[in-house]
Amino acid sequence: MHVLSEPDVSKIFRGLTQDQCHSFIKALGDALISISKESKPSFPASDKQIHQPLRTVFTTNKNNSCIFMPISDTVSTGIKVVTVASSGIQGVINVFNPEGRLQGLLAAAEVTAFRTALATMTLLVRVTTIRKEHVLVLGSGRQAEWHARLALLLYPEQIRRVSFVNRGAKRLAEMERDVFSELRASYPSVSFVTLAKEGVDDYPQKLGGELAAADVIFSCTPSLEPNFGFAELQKAPKQRFISLIGSYKPPMHEIDTETLLSGGGRVYVDSKSACLEEAGELITAGLGEGDLIEMGDLLGAGRNVEEAIDVPVGCNVVYKCVGMGLMDLVVGKKVLEVGGEMGLGIHVDGF
Ligand SMILES: NC(=O)c1ccc[n+]([C@@H]2O[C@H](COP(=O)([O-])OP(=O)(O)OC[C@H]3O[C@@H](n4cnc5c(N)ncnc54)[C@H](OP(=O)(O)O)[C@@H]3O)[C@@H](O)[C@H]2O)c1
Repeated sequence: MHVLSEPDVSKIFRGLTQDQCHSFIKALGDALISISKESKPSFPASDKQIHQPLRTVFTTNKNNSCIFMPISDTVSTGIKVVTVASSGIQGVINVFNPEGRLQGLLAAAEVTAFRTALATMTLLVRVTTIRKEHVLVLGSGRQAEWHARLALLLYPEQIRRVSFVNRGAKRLAEMERDVFSELRASYPSVSFVTLAKEGVDDYPQKLGGELAAADVIFSCTPSLEPNFGFAELQKAPKQRFISLIGSYKPPMHEIDTETLLSGGGRVYVDSKSACLEEAGELITAGLGEGDLIEMGDLLGAGRNVEEAIDVPVGCNVVYKCVGMGLMDLVVGKKVLEVGGEMGLGIHVDGF
């Protein structure tokens, strides 16, 4: 049984090459294809390989939310157990062999941020007709960081500017101190800027400027109100890639309905059923399954998981993801594999 701590996982992700990132995209893409195929009503129940029961969530009297996410793809079984506390998110992903022997245990916080950003990248890499010069990231948590990191890893030649826009100033200052210095050294031709809503009088004008410039918008907040209005995008019309991974409850809205429908009414999603149940933007817009394109269906229909998609003229590409345990299992297994190759972590016998 192999154990990877949070520092081990961080080291693995920060050291990934572009080729390794593409191989993670391929592994995640293949898993999404399988789960979409198996979720069709016509798929025989007896042939199912993937079992993903609903997660269990409860809140302790210390106001900590404990989340248990079980998953099996038959080849491996896993469960992610994380606690969301005021100090942040902590937990582990357990990976078992088909007979239940524990094969790996890895820290879950950074894997969760990485796998969600990777899921966004499974679509971004297929959007070849939209420029990726200006990247705007809404939020300044781990998800925001990993969306920026993976976009930079995949498009170092194209990206010229990365802007982080956040509600509060504190997290941006931490990002400036802990993340930007490293990214500036790795990508000297990219400019990194921050904009806080808190304490900036002309925030709406400044945000408008960032939105006008943005080709790619990664929204990573649990916002209850849209972080920007469609009218702001329309002031500088161009095709954009817009992803939303932050909202996960009906009252949450990272964008307004017009922005949501700006892909010609089509929204790409990780899971139709989960997004229709959990994503506030989709519920408010009254969307149904017919308005959504599940990533697994898209990826499965192409010749390969990175085949370019057709983006109609005048349309954006809009993507919504609420996440699933299968992503943790697939990515967690690959991280254990890469960690083993790099000699990271510890091996424990007897499980
Ligand atoms: N789709 C998935 O699979 C998936 C997986 C994991 C997490 N998530 C979600 O992704 C989001 C970001 O995760 P994270 O780990 O990066 O979280 P985090 O570290 O807690 O960061 C949250 C960010 O959102 C901002 N924010 C919080 N409430 C807001 C509000 N009401 N309006 C506007 N901004 C607000 C925070 O700004 P301040 O600095 O001002 O507080 C912070 O920048 C969360 O909503 C999380 O639940 C999604």
